[in-house]
Amino acid sequence: MPLLSAADAARRIYCAIDTPDLARAETLARALAGAGCGIKLGLEFFSAQGPAGVARVRKAAGGDLFLDLKFHDIPNTVAAAVRAAAPLAPTIVNVHAAGGRAMMSAAAEAAREAAAKAGTPAPLVIAVTVLTSLETVDIERMGVIGGVEEQVVRLAALAHEAGLDGVVCSAREITPIRRALGPDFTLVTPGIRPAGADVGDQKRVMTPGEAITAGADYLVIGRPITGAEDPAAAARAIAAEISATGN
Ligand code: C5P
Repeated sequence: MPLLSAADAARRIYCAIDTPDLARAETLARALAGAGCGIKLGLEFFSAQGPAGVARVRKAAGGDLFLDLKFHDIPNTVAAAVRAAAPLAPTIVNVHAAGGRAMMSAAAEAAREAAAKAGTPAPLVIAVTVLTSLETVDIERMGVIGGVEEQVVRLAALAHEAGLDGVVCSAREITPIRRALGPDFTLVTPGIRPAGADVGDQKRVMTPGEAITAGADYLVIGRPITGAEDPAAAARAIAAEISATGN
């Protein structure tokens, strides 16, 4: 199997910048600028700093942006939100699969149209299936029977049918989703810890190499990079590990 170049491996990493603080986020983004990885900004940062803050941090990092806002509303509203986010030129945006097929299709269509209008590449539109904070007992209380894995695969299949590009999934869900939906569906996986790193509050972790070998396309990695003394060096070390897997 051919080895991935270090640059291609780095592009498989999105560093989660989880802070409400603009100065901290910009400092981290600048520190990562040479590493070639993307950044992920989510609800915490967006709620505090808005689109202007996102644009500043993205500029400081200079790479790809996963805008992790997990839209979930009626199709018209979600499509409008995706269009409103288009000027930020995210490379990945996401919605909740629980919003249903029509909502997901509306999001995908809005992303394509807005990007075409702006002359920018369309972002990948991916779905969140079952939040990893929920267990079988929790979804049973919402009326969903059959367990978490069955529901994850069911919602991933619905996202696929709706024309979405992929899903966010935990490392343990990679294999069942790949089995059901094949290779042409983007899997973005958090809960990654380099060998020997602090696991923190993540319960089921894989190393970057293991997750890529299992079939993940992109990895979301936060504290192992943001908590390192030299975040760019930490990101480069992870890219080197991915590169060695050759996938
Ligand atoms: O610091 P850490 O690597 O655990 O950060 C992982 C990032 O991925 C955080 O932004 C977290 O919210 C997000 N995430 C996760 N597990 C999920 C979905 C998202 O850890 N199932």
